[in-house]
Amino acid sequence: MVAIIFSESSRTFWLENGTVTYAFGIGESGMPEHLYFGKKIGHELVCGDYPSGGEAQPIKRESENGMVFTPNSVPYELHLPLGGDYSEPGLIVRRDNGSRRLDLRYTGYRIFETKPPVPGLPSLRDGQTLQIDLEAADIRVTLSYSILDDCNALARNMRIENRGTEAVSIDRAYSFSLPVPDGKYDTVCLHGMAAQEAQIQRLPLGYGIFTVDSKRGYSGAVMNPFLAICDQNAGEETGTVYGFGLIYSGSFAIKAQKKAAGTVSISGGINDFDFSWRLEPGACFDTPEAVLVFSEAGLGGMSRSFHTAYRSHLIPRRFAHAPRPIVINNWEATRFAFTAEKIRGIIDGAAGTGIDTFVLDDGWFGIRNDITSGLGDWEVNEAKLGGSLDDLIAYVHSKGMRFGLWFEPEMVNRNSRLYHMHPDWALQTPDEEPVEARGQLVLDLSRPEVVDHIADAINHVIRGHAIDYVKWDCNRALSEGYSLALPPERQKETFHRHVLGLYALFHKIVDANPDILFEGCASGGSRFDAGILYFFPQIWTSDNTDMVARTRIQYGTSLCYPPSAMSCHVTASPNRRASHITPFESRAALAHQGPTGYELDTAKLSVQEKAAIPLQIDAYREMEALIQSGDLYRLASPFEGNVFAQMFAARDQSRGVLTAVRILWNYNEPVSPLYPRGLNPERRYLLRETGQIRLGSTWMYAGVTPCFQNRDCDAVTLHFDNADD
Ligand code: GLA
Repeated sequence: MVAIIFSESSRTFWLENGTVTYAFGIGESGMPEHLYFGKKIGHELVCGDYPSGGEAQPIKRESENGMVFTPNSVPYELHLPLGGDYSEPGLIVRRDNGSRRLDLRYTGYRIFETKPPVPGLPSLRDGQTLQIDLEAADIRVTLSYSILDDCNALARNMRIENRGTEAVSIDRAYSFSLPVPDGKYDTVCLHGMAAQEAQIQRLPLGYGIFTVDSKRGYSGAVMNPFLAICDQNAGEETGTVYGFGLIYSGSFAIKAQKKAAGTVSISGGINDFDFSWRLEPGACFDTPEAVLVFSEAGLGGMSRSFHTAYRSHLIPRRFAHAPRPIVINNWEATRFAFTAEKIRGIIDGAAGTGIDTFVLDDGWFGIRNDITSGLGDWEVNEAKLGGSLDDLIAYVHSKGMRFGLWFEPEMVNRNSRLYHMHPDWALQTPDEEPVEARGQLVLDLSRPEVVDHIADAINHVIRGHAIDYVKWDCNRALSEGYSLALPPERQKETFHRHVLGLYALFHKIVDANPDILFEGCASGGSRFDAGILYFFPQIWTSDNTDMVARTRIQYGTSLCYPPSAMSCHVTASPNRRASHITPFESRAALAHQGPTGYELDTAKLSVQEKAAIPLQIDAYREMEALIQSGDLYRLASPFEGNVFAQMFAARDQSRGVLTAVRILWNYNEPVSPLYPRGLNPERRYLLRETGQIRLGSTWMYAGVTPCFQNRDCDAVTLHFDNADD
């Protein structure tokens, strides 16, 4: 049950659901001052005096009531620069006379029973929203707070409106700022690179500013748009954690600042590197939404709140909790070098196994036989397919499967018809060679005509053929922050305008084809962010499908994204990248921890492997509802030891499935017990694999020791079934 309460007498706002409270008040400063975010409490707190932060000569200011306050000590909900507050500012507005000081004052609030969307940007659905207005003579800033009823998550964003008669420049506009109680904290973030995404880094937070960011024009794998701040004693299921995620796919920054007095605050939003936005009189600027999570149950509790927020309130509803296709994708088996015969062999090999969708990857269009050509020309290469696309689709259908197709809509190769017709449509800086990556340039999505052209071209292919699934790739970061269509004074808008254009493009294609499942991809998980999940229910987690690497990548990604969004495929052994030789059934067990598929040459499978696939798929389908709608508990971290283990438990505690992988078989290395989670301590469960029936408490607190076979990357799956009825 969600409630937003305002106390007129103390000018205090309370947002609460059954488990958490977020509170702030309008203090002497005339600005919203943070009071609390955490476990649900009563309505007693009011804005108070703050210690002056140990400063020798603190800057003091006088409030409208004649009270003196110290701006640098106030835990503002929005920090503003150059008025004696030295925290990271959340908003910098520059006027044409050069001034950057903005003295805003609270003027009023509104409550929405239904959360309004953020114009032009993806955002959470559902919940209730509080908006408060802060005004100066010519600028109105609106802070939005939305609270959900089924998880410890709150969404925040900011709107800036120019109500004056002259244009101003916004040099920074973050989405949120949150002070957390003084304490000793660690930062937890996800760093990496393509094929090594979502690596967990946990470091003590020292004085100064710790930043995770991207300046790449997309979110990227180097730093994910996520940061957690946790009590230094917090563990997987214990301790206080604050988690922050951005529903944004462009350059971002999230910062944790520890000030001299020991106070810690977190803020973030669009990266202000190479950003400035010209706001004309009457115009508004909306920041992306940030998701703030509180957990008193460690990192696991934080993850489960993110999972619920994204699964139930972000991912397109029609797919969120529905069974997903099980695909066979040809990429790892063929790369560009496929023939009609080869493709048909792969389809034949998958037919009748339970695999239900064939996905034709890169190389089917234009002159696309390697990375240097063809992107931008979305016309079927019938010579390479040995017939029309409809012929191929009919063949797939005749084998009882549906059809999916790969696109990389945002890009263009110089060697393409599109580039020859519209060289100015690529992002580029005048008089400079545009920088190529993977042989390609980025189309300028800040231009509506480019967005329209791409939408028409992709929709033409999709509508002209029976396509059920689209893999939407994006294989490079942006480098050129320059659009030939924008005037000089607006060039620093290019990156953000590009992202707005990307979202407009998604709307034009995804909304027009509501029955198609779109899977995101960016050289694997280089754009695994909440902005993408608003449009696409799942994302290809990594091009690295080696089991050893995948235990870490999947474990790390689950920190802030639901496993139901993590596309995972069974690929060949030895692995194409790492050459590790791993058991077929173990590869399946790990790949079946998210929406799954196969990506290997099914024509080359052994008789035993072929016979195993239907059984693997039955097992996956049986646990799929848990992946879609159950709770995830991480039990053993591959970042800390030799075992990956996690468990999905049904919300009604009727069952659970535990999967463990021992990465290296070290002769005679002892195996530690694992402690299942999410069962009802007082109910009895049958461990299907051994036939033992025990109370949930016994399974969870006494643990269970997996019997690994003596081989590398052995996987064990344990089913805990309700034994009470
Ligand atoms: C990226 C994707 C791969 C594949 C190739 C095709 O690397 O991550 O899965 O689609 O592009 O070029």
